[in-house]
Amino acid sequence: MNEKRTSIHGQWSGRLAFILAATGSAVGLGNIWKFPYIAGENGGGAFVLVYLICIALIGVPIMMAEILLGRRGRQNPVHTMATLAEEEGASKAWGLLGWMGVLAGFMILSYYSVVAGWALSYIFEAASGAFSNTDAKGVSAIFSDLTGSASSLMLWHTLFMFMTMIVVAQGVKSGLERAVKWLMPGLFVILVLLVGYAMAEGNFAQGIHFLFSPDFSKLSTDAILIAMGHAFFTLSLGMGAIMIYGSYLPENVSIARTTFMVALADTAVALLAGMAIFPIVFANGLEPGAGPGLVFQTLPIAFGQMPGGVIVGLLFFIMLSFAAWSSSISLIEPAVTWLVENKNLTRGRASILAGMVTWALGIGSALSFNLWGDYKLLDKTFFDLIDYLTANIMLPLGGLAIAIFTGWVMHRSSSRGELQMGESASFELWHFLVRFVAPFAVIIVFFSAIGLIK
Ligand code: PHE
Repeated sequence: MNEKRTSIHGQWSGRLAFILAATGSAVGLGNIWKFPYIAGENGGGAFVLVYLICIALIGVPIMMAEILLGRRGRQNPVHTMATLAEEEGASKAWGLLGWMGVLAGFMILSYYSVVAGWALSYIFEAASGAFSNTDAKGVSAIFSDLTGSASSLMLWHTLFMFMTMIVVAQGVKSGLERAVKWLMPGLFVILVLLVGYAMAEGNFAQGIHFLFSPDFSKLSTDAILIAMGHAFFTLSLGMGAIMIYGSYLPENVSIARTTFMVALADTAVALLAGMAIFPIVFANGLEPGAGPGLVFQTLPIAFGQMPGGVIVGLLFFIMLSFAAWSSSISLIEPAVTWLVENKNLTRGRASILAGMVTWALGIGSALSFNLWGDYKLLDKTFFDLIDYLTANIMLPLGGLAIAIFTGWVMHRSSSRGELQMGESASFELWHFLVRFVAPFAVIIVFFSAIGLIK
């Protein structure tokens, strides 16, 4: 019976289109902005290792689970979960998981858009030659001028949300496929180029040592939680984004193979970003734990010094903005499809409504870098708090629920049928990871982070 279900929003044109869209969702600020700065704050190597382990043992199996649920349900995440739960003889309350996803999407996009606004404004900084021949001090002044100005941040945040609403209103499939096909490889090439620069001009040995040689004495339980949360964040898991993209996936595409490609591309981009940034950090005597401004305070030094740096910098920030934009679209898509399917709104109206709610919530994050900088809860600004709550708590909780649903509630025959892997050893491995390893890992990390396990 589920063979006949189709999404009212249409389908991807094929396997490649899905890989591109899912990569567009996964690769974003998380890889280039967030990964390097949290790796820097949490001591480097050991953190990176935990993150990689989480990608392999938790992220990949849960990504497969999320795609298979999406394709089987073919509706917005709330209805997909409720329908599939009913089919498996479980409570429709599983639809709550979809709700948490919609909420997490709003919350993440609200601050994501503010940071994406930084990238947009840096397109103009780069074009104006502002980075030419500046040193670390000059570059950091440009960053604090920007974040110190509430009106600038609001302007860029508004522009970015507007750009997101326009594409979402038109339907994600047509434009997204074509754009990601060119811009993702472009971003990759520029990152490789920057790693080349870091090798030649930066302190490459120290950068690599920082990223890849684990010192476990620097690893706190909170750092482990952050590494795990980031594995969910960077792969866009735990909130229905990948589920909704899975709901547009044609029947005959292999979920396992596509998942590997997306996870590989995502991890490669994050590691390349780290390898480009840290050698510059050490060569210029900067602080690896400089926080959210890290990328914006390091790479411009390289753009200022390398030949052709104005063009390279310009292209880099255009592509970074684009990567952020293709992720934002997927952050808001679950809410928009829910509004369309449930409230009978047109796509256009649904996008405007969802976009405006997100925009309003984002004001809190924009102001937390300036006017509201002193208002803190649990020692965190509004921006930090929303980031912590979504990435480290809501996404892993969503992922845990997805793992429990596919591993324990759903019958083996259902998941096996959807994955089309037959009785193979790889199916057994996936089932074991999603049934035991992923859920227990998430639970153990949660418990140790709140101090229940020492
Ligand atoms: N994966 C995106 C990034 O790394 C962020 C994201 C999270 C997108 C959750 C969708 C859902 O930037």
